[in-house]
Amino acid sequence: MMEPINVVVTGAAGQIAYSLLYQLAVGSVFGPEQPVNLRLLDIKLMMDVLQGVVMELEDLALPLLREILPTADAAVAFKDADAAFLIGSMPRKQGMERKDLLTANVNIFKDQGEALDKFARKDVKVLVVGNPANTNALICSHYAPSIPKENFSAMTRLDQNRAQALVASRLGVQVDQIKNVIIWGNHSSTQYPDATYATVNLSKTGEGVISVPQAVNDNEWLNDEFVSTIQKRGASVIAARKMSSAMSAAKAAGDHMRDWFTGTKDGQWVSMGVVSDGSYGIPKGIVFSFPVTIKNKKFSIVQGLEINDFSRSKLNITAEELMEESEEARQVLKP
Ligand code: NAD
Ligand code: LMR
Repeated sequence: MMEPINVVVTGAAGQIAYSLLYQLAVGSVFGPEQPVNLRLLDIKLMMDVLQGVVMELEDLALPLLREILPTADAAVAFKDADAAFLIGSMPRKQGMERKDLLTANVNIFKDQGEALDKFARKDVKVLVVGNPANTNALICSHYAPSIPKENFSAMTRLDQNRAQALVASRLGVQVDQIKNVIIWGNHSSTQYPDATYATVNLSKTGEGVISVPQAVNDNEWLNDEFVSTIQKRGASVIAARKMSSAMSAAKAAGDHMRDWFTGTKDGQWVSMGVVSDGSYGIPKGIVFSFPVTIKNKKFSIVQGLEINDFSRSKLNITAEELMEESEEARQVLKP
């Protein structure tokens, strides 16, 4: 049997964590052979609620779930962490943009960056879910200088899953027949969901694997309605539920971490917010969502995709927003 790994979930008493924890405990993220110790971090005020979550985790009676540690102390939570889901933060309400959360949330990610730096393993994999996710990931990595920048990422997998599901529904195929839809940029309403290089497997109808633009045969829909539906999907969920997405966000967080730990399949790309290395002319240093492949727990940005004028203008808009957000975060954190 493998040694247990230490998995931190922040915001552990919140709604996303409530859906994520079962996936971690049952083995659908780190695999059916991998035992986990859960380190559950939340604020002091939520410790009673968190105790209820702990009771439920115990009552799952799942063999892979070893220690369960609820705490309000980041030093305890991040000790020897192998993986961290940074969810704990304030969600937006109707009428807000995700960047409106910057002032409220950015200090959380500074503090947690410092705690990761001091207490976590140097190969810890950090997934930032709390919004504004890209800029929070940037801040977190900045305050954890002893951990490689490649170990920090922001979640755009929910946007990818949404985009994949929308294309599948448009083409009347199962969602797993669609591959390689890309999310570029910020997890915000400036993100660019791009199906240019996506494919659909139509083997059942004898047409084989063809490109999504060819199958959809409607560039106006792909450049307009498809893009804006995905950009606004989070807001649509909030308008309907009066709370932000949780079940789908937790599923996406599990997908992201599973692929980071176990790798992508041949020919498959996934989207992750990662520190830009200048690929595709994106300014270095901002946390930007790119298509990546993953092997041996290391991602590589997919290179060589041709970017047409339409796509370039979309990439510029979302990169500019991220530059502004990082400047704003710097102002908030100024001593
Ligand atoms: P929630 O309000 O249900 O839970 C948040 C939890 O975080 C609460 O229990 C709160 O006490 C806790 N918390 C606050 N400050 C903390 C701190 N310093 N340390 C530890 N815990 C802390 O919110 P939720 O619905 O779970 O959403 C959490 C975040 O995830 C929000 O910022 C939301 O906007 C974001 N989100 C991101 C995506 C994405 O795709 N990247 C998707 C959905 C939601
Ligand atoms: C989402 O995309 O559903 C989340 O980021 C929540 C939000 O504020 O939109």
